[in-house]
Amino acid sequence: MKAIVVTDQAAGTAGMTLTERPEPKAAGNDVLVEVHASGFTPGELEWPSTWVDRLGRDRTPSIPGHEMAGVVSSLGYGTRGLSLGQRVFGLTDWTRDGTLAQYVAIEARNLAPLPGDVDFTAGASLPISGLTAWQGLFVHGRFQEGQSVLVHGAAGGVGSMATQLARQAGAYVIGTGRAADRQAAMEFGAQEFVDLGNDALEDVGSVDLVFDVIGGGIGKQSADLVRAGGMLVTIAGPPETPPKDGLAVDFVVEADRAQLAEVVQRVRDGRLRTNIGQVVALKDAVSAFNPAERVKGKIIVRL
Ligand SMILES: NC(=O)c1ccc[n+]([C@@H]2O[C@H](COP(=O)([O-])OP(=O)(O)OC[C@H]3O[C@@H](n4cnc5c(N)ncnc54)[C@H](OP(=O)(O)O)[C@@H]3O)[C@@H](O)[C@H]2O)c1
Repeated sequence: MKAIVVTDQAAGTAGMTLTERPEPKAAGNDVLVEVHASGFTPGELEWPSTWVDRLGRDRTPSIPGHEMAGVVSSLGYGTRGLSLGQRVFGLTDWTRDGTLAQYVAIEARNLAPLPGDVDFTAGASLPISGLTAWQGLFVHGRFQEGQSVLVHGAAGGVGSMATQLARQAGAYVIGTGRAADRQAAMEFGAQEFVDLGNDALEDVGSVDLVFDVIGGGIGKQSADLVRAGGMLVTIAGPPETPPKDGLAVDFVVEADRAQLAEVVQRVRDGRLRTNIGQVVALKDAVSAFNPAERVKGKIIVRL
């Protein structure tokens, strides 16, 4: 099969190639999926899980990309809940070969059915950003209707999902980002916008929940905005400073079939808009991974 592989951590994207790889086999509880559309995260060549398995053993050449939509083409022993020929989408294991390939072997529990009226491109754009937003707000953030939520990077992949989900769940949403992101953030549902380059973040006052996708100095400043009993939820690494009278949670998104179903249902009924910036072919995936110009929204690779 055709696949994008990386073999040399020091070479970064320069060492990334489109090549032939053996088709993977579905192990116990796996399905093999013919990938129709794949998403990736620009920073994943920096993750240890791209280079080593759970025991720290070299697993190169490895295939990047950890979200996808496609069709089940074979079932491993003991697989439950999915059938041959079924349209699916989901999030793959960080320490196994990923989705920038014609086929991927993936545990069935990491997938959900993709309804026939949601196309593969949309399906592949949802697992990481949709699940991260869902888990950050409703699982780790314990969001409750009526709370105020500060969403950093509100025009980005995760932030645009968090903004929409929070609004629909009854939040007052303050989005942040760069000056050029204002309109997009407001269109995703933010009621206020803070331009992090020009506005003073402390002018936001206090909020119940901060959803941080940026970290660093922005994360540090954000801890001071959390009101007593509130929460700082971050996906940008452990926070240096927790809120004075609140909690801080750093998490990594996990696959969840029920949550994928919730997210895709909202896309079907128009409550959730995908945030796709560019769609490219597999042969262009290497340059898409390292674009000459910053692309807003998710880049989806079609196979
Ligand atoms: N822990 C987890 O489970 C998890 C899950 C998903 C993603 N992540 C990580 O979370 C981060 C965000 O992911 P994403 O997919 O939402 O990325 P994204 O689509 O690039 O969105 C981030 C947004 O924040 C903006 N931004 C970043 N730094 C900024 C700054 N200093 N000032 C103003 N705006 C800034 C970006 O603007 P520009 O594009 O102009 O920079 C972009 O609009 C990434 O580092 C990703 O690897 C972690």
